[in-house]
Amino acid sequence: MTNSSPKILIIGSTGQVGSALVKVLSDKYSLITPPKLFFEHISYTVLNEKLQILKPTIIINTLAYTNVDKAENAREKVLKLNTIFPKMLANWCSQNKSLLVHYSSDYVYSGEIIDTYSETDKCHPINFYGLTKLQGDSFILNSSADSIILRCGWIYSCSHHSFFKTMLQKMQNDTTLKIVKDQFGTPTPARWIAQITKRLIEDDKLKKGAQIINCVPNGYTTWYGFSVEIFEQLKKIGFSLKTKNILPIYSDEFKQKAKRPKNSRLNNAKLKSIINNDLIDWKSLLSEEMIDI
Ligand SMILES: NC(=O)c1ccc[n+]([C@@H]2O[C@H](COP(=O)([O-])OP(=O)(O)OC[C@H]3O[C@@H](n4cnc5c(N)ncnc54)[C@H](OP(=O)(O)O)[C@@H]3O)[C@@H](O)[C@H]2O)c1
Repeated sequence: MTNSSPKILIIGSTGQVGSALVKVLSDKYSLITPPKLFFEHISYTVLNEKLQILKPTIIINTLAYTNVDKAENAREKVLKLNTIFPKMLANWCSQNKSLLVHYSSDYVYSGEIIDTYSETDKCHPINFYGLTKLQGDSFILNSSADSIILRCGWIYSCSHHSFFKTMLQKMQNDTTLKIVKDQFGTPTPARWIAQITKRLIEDDKLKKGAQIINCVPNGYTTWYGFSVEIFEQLKKIGFSLKTKNILPIYSDEFKQKAKRPKNSRLNNAKLKSIINNDLIDWKSLLSEEMIDI
């Protein structure tokens, strides 16, 4: 580490992406991972005081209210964490010439188109979580902060609560699983997002200005397709599983409080051109994650 190394503040370092970032970045950078504060209660004055002491050159904000169903009934808190808090961070970064890295969601889209969504496509969220994430993105883009917003899809890890972890547990305990077959997206390990984040913060071209970059690997599937792939890969590495049948069902048959977009596929051409390389496909990434189970 040199004196000119950036001082990186990771907010939300206990979450899926936050903890992966700590692992990926800690060898090379001086990281600040503050103890948990209940950020829905923080005022700009208090945040400003804390940040003036820490003086980060890069703030990576992974903090969010991410329970999409509960978000429908916790609106004030969700708005504060997903919209107001990123706005306050953007204001501070703009005034202090720091770079803000933030994570957006595929749920900012309605999911009605057949093709993949590009960064410039019109957003139209169909649930409250998606609405607050979109508003957070807009505040950041409309501030004069230098920022990179990574728009992610179906994030998973074997260490935290996620679809992947739920499947691991269910496949060891339940004979039959019923999984939604009519929502499309790209399963993405938190660790891969952390690795991509590292490459992007090291790219001088991205240090000025504001941009959204879709952050998904190649390929796509449904939740059903994801579960079948998890099952097959677990079998391949010798896991003893109780599940005998995985049945595809429609979203209407699986009652959830919040509506989900049917199509969450994100176009990753911009990310490919920035890193000047093709990207790995989601199935290969899944097999890399299997090593850690
Ligand atoms: N998960 C997905 O599938 C997905 C998909 C697309 C985009 N994203 C976006 O990607 C980013 C990272 O997601 P993730 O899956 O890593 O999220 P996560 O695992 O739910 O982690 C969220 C982090 O926020 C913290 N947090 C939540 N409420 C808080 C509060 N009131 N005060 C202080 N800290 C609080 C959590 O702390 P605790 O651990 O202490 O609760 C945790 O560190 C988020 O911006 C999310 O919107 C997620």
